[in-house]
Amino acid sequence: MRNLINILDLTTKEIDELINTASDIIDSPELYANSCRSKILGTLFFEPSTRTRLSFASAMMGLGGGVLGFSQAASSSVAKGETVADTIRMVSSYSDIIVMRHPKEGAPIVASNVSSVPVINAGDGGHFHPTQTLTDLLTIKKKKGRFENLTVGVCGDLKYGRTVHSLISAMARYKGVKFVLIAPDELKLPDYVKTEFLCGIDYIETASLEEAIPSLDILYMTRIQAERFDSPEEYERLKDTYILNAEKLKSAKSDLSILHPLPRVNEIDTDVDDDPRAHYFDQATYGRYIRMALILMLLKTKGVVDRRTHGTEDEHLSCQNPHCISFGDSERGIKRLFDDGKCIYCDQMAKKV
Ligand code: CP
Repeated sequence: MRNLINILDLTTKEIDELINTASDIIDSPELYANSCRSKILGTLFFEPSTRTRLSFASAMMGLGGGVLGFSQAASSSVAKGETVADTIRMVSSYSDIIVMRHPKEGAPIVASNVSSVPVINAGDGGHFHPTQTLTDLLTIKKKKGRFENLTVGVCGDLKYGRTVHSLISAMARYKGVKFVLIAPDELKLPDYVKTEFLCGIDYIETASLEEAIPSLDILYMTRIQAERFDSPEEYERLKDTYILNAEKLKSAKSDLSILHPLPRVNEIDTDVDDDPRAHYFDQATYGRYIRMALILMLLKTKGVVDRRTHGTEDEHLSCQNPHCISFGDSERGIKRLFDDGKCIYCDQMAKKV
């Protein structure tokens, strides 16, 4: 059985295969219309979503399969205190593959440890969002024709932006990729992402979008993640730090590709939408096709062991990340596991106790 928790669970060769399959589905959808007949996708969304949940549902229906699930925790037995593990045990007996989004970092790892069917991470807190990255990669391939030798600007909330963490970890594997990390001091890329994925990679950090724009091949704008802030005042102060508009794009390359995982709030003015370099709505459309390809791949793969379930208990270590599924008592019975001093659920360094 195979899960997708982190984009690095896929090799670059497998990503190429997914992109080829997605392209084939775009060209000849009728050839895939019965590929998942009698299969069921469970969609468990403990957090709001439009694109990810509906594109997964549309993907499974386009493959001839069925869909069940919930779109908010309040309409499931989680509202009565059921754990993630127990929820997944149940749903994996009602479906053939599960996609889940959860506000706690590492929740999909808890799910994959008890599930009898493949689990796909559709976003775990501010941690990772690997299927958004597959969508981003398909868009980059379609619009730029390559992954190598690109200067990629990522702008906005690099601290809590899970799509950014997954995109950087994926793109860092390609030759000649440079990153321009555009964020205010308060929302800079977390150290664990830099240490894990940007070691030996060319990158600069800046707070100025205007100064960065002329050098970029890709500009990946992101929303400031209101729901992850501990302080509403801090969010209010930072929420409009970056607003991309037609005026700012005058200094950009003519073949710049402007991406955004969406939803947007204020960070891209609507006067950019008709610019031929604005690719964010195409990006959302591609999401359906790459998710069709992913469902096909995971349902076909047998006998692959998910490496991310490894780790050992250590009574001298404690995860201090309040956003981690292993923090506190909400996930009763969870094994607190560490690998090389890091919590395996959230990838943050644990504290010695
Ligand atoms: N990009 C993305 O994850 O969008 P949703 O929150 O609407 O699923």
